[in-house]
Amino acid sequence: MYQSEMVSRQELPDRETRVAALEAAGYNVFGLSSSTVYIDLLTDSGTGTMSTDQWAALLGGDESYAGSDSFERLERAIADVLGFEQVVPAHQGRGAENLLYGALVDEGETVIANTHFDTTRAHVGESGGRPLDCPVDGAFDIDAPGEFKGNLDVEAARERASAVGADRVPAVVVTLTNNSAAGQPVSVENVRRARQLADDIDARLVVDGCRFAENAWFVREREPEFADRTIEEIVREQLSYADAVVVSGKKDGLVNVGGFVAVADHETELFGRLRERAVLYEGFYTYGGMAGRDMAAMAVGLREAAEPAYLDHRIGQVRTLADMLESRGIPVYRPVGGHAVYIDAGEAVPEIPRERFPGQAVVCDAYREGGVRAVELGGFAFPGTDRPDFVRLALPRRRYHREHLEHIAETFGAVLDHAGELDGLEIVDEPAREALRHFSASLRPVE
Ligand code: F0G
Repeated sequence: MYQSEMVSRQELPDRETRVAALEAAGYNVFGLSSSTVYIDLLTDSGTGTMSTDQWAALLGGDESYAGSDSFERLERAIADVLGFEQVVPAHQGRGAENLLYGALVDEGETVIANTHFDTTRAHVGESGGRPLDCPVDGAFDIDAPGEFKGNLDVEAARERASAVGADRVPAVVVTLTNNSAAGQPVSVENVRRARQLADDIDARLVVDGCRFAENAWFVREREPEFADRTIEEIVREQLSYADAVVVSGKKDGLVNVGGFVAVADHETELFGRLRERAVLYEGFYTYGGMAGRDMAAMAVGLREAAEPAYLDHRIGQVRTLADMLESRGIPVYRPVGGHAVYIDAGEAVPEIPRERFPGQAVVCDAYREGGVRAVELGGFAFPGTDRPDFVRLALPRRRYHREHLEHIAETFGAVLDHAGELDGLEIVDEPAREALRHFSASLRPVE
C-alpha cells in the first residue's frame, strides 16, 4: 500500500567484517554500529518510516515554548483517536511512565499487570513499589492455543491483591498488546473485567497503549462484538475503561521519538500532578521534551496508525515473516502477535543449556550469517526468571519489503541448519544493575 518517496543505501558487510564487529561488540548486538547491520529487527520502537503527510506536518511544527499549536494538534488527535482530553506530553514512553508511576506508587505498594514491560517494571521499582505479573496460562507457551494470550488473569490478580491487601495496590496495569508475552493481544472484555477489579479494590486502571491500534486490529478479528466496528471505535471503547493511558509514540504514534500520558476527565487532580512532574522531569507541559515538529508529526501518525489498510499490511507482514520462518523449520510462537515474531531458541538449539544463553547464541549467529540484528528476551535479558529463551524479531513499521523478509528467513534457516555446532556464551563483564545487563554486558563464546 506504499511507494517509496525516499530511500537510504544499505549494504551487507562481508562476513569477515561481521565476525570482527560481533567480537568487538562483546557478542552483544546492542554494541554494534548500525552501519554494520543489514536488517535491523532490534526493535519496532522509533524505527519506522514516516509518511509524506508526517514530513509535511513536521515542517509546519510550532516551536513555541508554551501553548504550541503543534501541541494543540496532538491533543486533538489524542482526543479523536484515543478519546482522552487531558494530555501531558513526554520525550518517550518511559518519560511518561516516570510521570505516572512516580505520582501513583508509594513505597511498599504492589502494582499488578498482565506483564510489566521492562521500563514499567523499573519505574514501579524506582517508586518503591513491587511489580507483580499475572499473565494468563499459556502466555509464555509457544504452542498454547488462545486468541487473547496477552490478557490479564483477572482472578489470579484478585487473589494476589487480597493476599497483599487491596489498600496496598494503587494500580492495575494492562499493556496492549502484551509486548513481554510475545506481543499478544488483550480483549476489550478483559479490560472491562480489569476495570471491575480496579473498582472492587479501589485502585486505578492504567492502560499501556503503546500498540493500541495493533491491539484493536486483533479485537476486530477475534472478538465477535467488534467485528463490524471501526478501528477507532474499538480503540476508544477499549481505552474508555482506563483512568490513565501511557503511550510511547515510537510505536503506534508512527514517529521516531515522543510519548505522552493522558488521563480521564474525572482525574483532574492527577492531571495537575502529572503536569507538575512534567515541568520537573520532561519540559513545560505543552511540549514535554518533544520539539514542536515532533508533536506535529505524531498528531498525524496517531491517525494513520488507526487506518485499516495500514494495519492489514502491518500485521500481515509480521504473519508472512512467521510463515516464512516456520516453513524452514524454525519454532515460532503461535498465534503470531502484532509487532514481532518470537522464536523459541530453547527448542531451536536444544544442545545449548539455558545458562549458556541459547537465545543469545542464535542472535549472534543471525548477525554473523546475514547481518540481521534481533534481540534475546530470555535467560540473558531476564536473569533470575523462568522466561523461555525467546528471540524477538521486531519489524519496524513501513520500513522493510518482502525481499527483506526473505533474507531474514534465509538467514535464520542457515542458523538452524548448523544449530548443532553453535557455541554457548558466558558473561565476561556486566553492569551493576543486573536487570539492565542485556543492554551492555559483554560475553564470550564457550564450547
Ligand atoms: N511500554 C511498552 C509496552 C513498550 O514496549 C515500551 C518500549 C515502553 C513502554 C517504553 O517506551 O521506549 O518510548 O521509552 N519498548 C521498546 C521495545 C523499547 O523494544 O519493545 P519508550
